[in-house]
Amino acid sequence: MLSVLDVHTYYGDSHVLQGVTMHVDTGTVTAILGRNGVGKTTLCRSLVGLTPARAGRIVFDGTEITRLPPHRICGMRISLVPQGRRIFPSLTVEENLAIAVRTHAPLAGASSVSEKREHAPSKPASPAETPMIRTMTARAARLLGARAPFERAPSESWDVRKVYAVFPRLSERSGHRGDELSGGEQQMLAIARALVANPVLLVMDEPTEGLAPMLVAEVGKLIRRLKDEGTSILLVEQNAAFAVKTADYVHVMSKGQIVHSSEPAALWANQDIKTQFLGVPRVDPTIARDVPVERKGR
Ligand SMILES: Nc1ncnc2c1ncn2[C@@H]1O[C@H](COP(=O)(O)OP(=O)(O)O)[C@@H](O)[C@H]1O
Ligand SMILES: [Mg+2]
Repeated sequence: MLSVLDVHTYYGDSHVLQGVTMHVDTGTVTAILGRNGVGKTTLCRSLVGLTPARAGRIVFDGTEITRLPPHRICGMRISLVPQGRRIFPSLTVEENLAIAVRTHAPLAGASSVSEKREHAPSKPASPAETPMIRTMTARAARLLGARAPFERAPSESWDVRKVYAVFPRLSERSGHRGDELSGGEQQMLAIARALVANPVLLVMDEPTEGLAPMLVAEVGKLIRRLKDEGTSILLVEQNAAFAVKTADYVHVMSKGQIVHSSEPAALWANQDIKTQFLGVPRVDPTIARDVPVERKGR
């Protein structure tokens, strides 16, 4: 489905991705692991066209997307859940979702950047459309460069109603502003916003960052459900234990390169890689796990 072939990406003179090669197979969850600063987010940005690769090729479903602008890549139904959520803080949950729906929906995307069509009657957005939403949608669409309608019809019809069914908490909080949400709620909203674009490939950049363990488990459940429904997922994580539990295949990055690729069990069994590249403490095999640790006096 997705092939990344010897990709090099720079910020100015800074050579961040130094020949990344990896693949995501259709219908799988593929994880990218690695310490802070190794280039995971830069890889996500190159995939969706935000920081295009300077050399190498990215091929999605047989089409080269390496230097396509973000709106074209979005039109091929690759969605990003960005690190740090990046929701609109001054807009409500409902408005954040309405913007995503209008930015990604074929007619809305086409009309919002065209001054003439912006005022043309269009299907009412769901949920309720307000002047604020219209303005922000136009702004979001311009930011994304949205112009073209979706290039393929959605196979799975995520809409606001369905994301509210999956995230009842978002429905309860629909009238609250982005900056009034907890970190977990913001993450749910960021995922919901990516889903209303009906992705065939969902790129999730550290979706569990800062979440309480119960919410991490919820994200894991959702990823498995999306996979069951046919969405392919590229999961970027620093939480190696979570990624190993969730993914079908894992890649480890270091200094802008993939340094290890395997099935999750093989990675988990590889103490050297785990310690060197993931910061997982080495477990001394001579210490029996079932011996209770004396914690008195702490
Ligand atoms: N916008 C930017 N401009 C310049 N350097 C950047 C920018 N974003 C990230 N970097 C640098 O690129 C490297 C990789 O960053 P990033 O892709 O965010 O890593 P990761 O997601 O693995 O933590 C880091 O050294 C970081 O400082
Ligand atoms: Mg990152």
